[in-house]
Amino acid sequence: MEGGQMRLAVDDDARRILRNWMLQARGKADSAPVPPPAAADAMSVEDKLALLRSRAAKWKPARRLGTLRDTMVFATGNPHARLMLVGEAPGFDEERIGEPFVGKAGQLLNKILTAMGLARDDVYISNVCKFRPDMGAHQGTANRPPSAEEIAACLPLILAEIRAIRPACIICLGGSAAKALLGTESSVHAMRGRWLECQGIPVRVTYHPSYLLRNETLSARRSVWEDMLAAMHLLGMPVSARQQHFFLPS
Ligand code: URA
Repeated sequence: MEGGQMRLAVDDDARRILRNWMLQARGKADSAPVPPPAAADAMSVEDKLALLRSRAAKWKPARRLGTLRDTMVFATGNPHARLMLVGEAPGFDEERIGEPFVGKAGQLLNKILTAMGLARDDVYISNVCKFRPDMGAHQGTANRPPSAEEIAACLPLILAEIRAIRPACIICLGGSAAKALLGTESSVHAMRGRWLECQGIPVRVTYHPSYLLRNETLSARRSVWEDMLAAMHLLGMPVSARQQHFFLPS
């Protein structure tokens, strides 16, 4: 330094550039899913999601594990949705079509949305894990839940999606989504029935549609429906007397 000066004033932009150099030097630039805040502020939600989608497709933290399949399944729906639904991971059908919740669980989710007076295009649907968990050469149509490690590897992506969309309300479909977004080990049973929070956004936890497919009881259906009613109230959606009474014993 000139004149023996040992300190240099560094503004935010310079700090960001230095941090990027440091990350690149460590080979970790790929694990920063979004551009720095100043650049992100100037981008539309659509552009942010397009960028995230392309980063997710080559997401090194997931690739490095070697336990997730190659095809990335990102998200579907309306980037300006007020309601965001987050599931676990794509399965056979989702991987084949390239869209979350298109198999049997997805068909049930569509029915739930219709009962709420919503279409798939009214909401944003995503998963905490963007790749179908691998089960080896004989996997066929079988699926397995993602491990905690696999979910952790993909977590920055869904957190960045939430930051981009800023929905008014998030519904976690099942324990994997809830544990990932809320950072807890509690069961769905313990978490449901109240409002929780992720990034300051109200979160409701409910049972995964596949759970409902395995437990076709009135009480399980009513539990999920009550969680949906709570979201409808929070979003200021009209709730008819008929909707209010769905799945109540007659
Ligand atoms: N189950 C999930 O959690 N997500 C999907 O996309 C499909 C089934």
